[in-house]
Amino acid sequence: MDPQPVRSEYKKVWSALSTSEEQAKLHVIGVTEEAALQSTGEETLGFLQESVGIRRDDVVLEIGCGIGRVGRLVAPLCRKWIGCDVASNMLALAAERLKDLPGIELKEISGYDLSGVADESVDVVYCTVVFMHLEPWDRHNYILEAFRVLRPNGRIYVDNINLCSDGGWKVFETHRALLPATRPPHMTQNSTPQEIETYLRRAGFSDVQVRTDDDWVRASGVKREENPFRPPH
Ligand SMILES: C[S@@+](CC[C@H](N)C(=O)[O-])C[C@H]1O[C@@H](n2cnc3c(N)ncnc32)[C@H](O)[C@@H]1O
Repeated sequence: MDPQPVRSEYKKVWSALSTSEEQAKLHVIGVTEEAALQSTGEETLGFLQESVGIRRDDVVLEIGCGIGRVGRLVAPLCRKWIGCDVASNMLALAAERLKDLPGIELKEISGYDLSGVADESVDVVYCTVVFMHLEPWDRHNYILEAFRVLRPNGRIYVDNINLCSDGGWKVFETHRALLPATRPPHMTQNSTPQEIETYLRRAGFSDVQVRTDDDWVRASGVKREENPFRPPH
């Protein structure tokens, strides 16, 4: 038997987790019923609308789109929706799920960048239920890439489970109880609000807002044309 891939071998890890539709759904959000996929997607759409807003003329890009759980709800509200994912199996399921919708583009990406997406070509980038599966460096890589592909005044939304919340701490403790060698490579690793805020600010985003009203960190920012506080890379 092949040894278990390490966390950063995202393509291998997530291809293996999406070999059937049922497995893919379970690893996307832990449910397989259509009604639950719809209602959790609506909840995410609500957070997007409250933070970055989705407008009729927007080109919207999702990093780690999975089977298109959220994309199915976002795409009808904008000009174009670009779903990016590291796993071709996920993208094949998304293609099937979204086949009746116009303005859809699906793109297989490396696992750490958005190469192939032109500079300043997108209005909104969002990434939901993905950061917990990434190395911290790759979370920031994607935020830097989002800054590159966003047009001036483009908006970003990202989230993760909040380590500083009671629920987030419970997740952390559950995983701590496992022997190190038995922890699967896609295991959830939470973020602190400060971590996410730092990535957004260091990438050059302005108007950074961080919500922590439940067990999640939900953060947004805007790529202003001039940001005098943008630190050098
Ligand atoms: C838990 S699912 C969430 C899917 C989708 N965002 C949603 O909320 O329905 C995580 C997704 O991220 C993708 N993924 C994992 N690591 C990735 C990486 N390094 N780059 C891009 N996508 C990645 C997986 O293939 C999977 O589709």
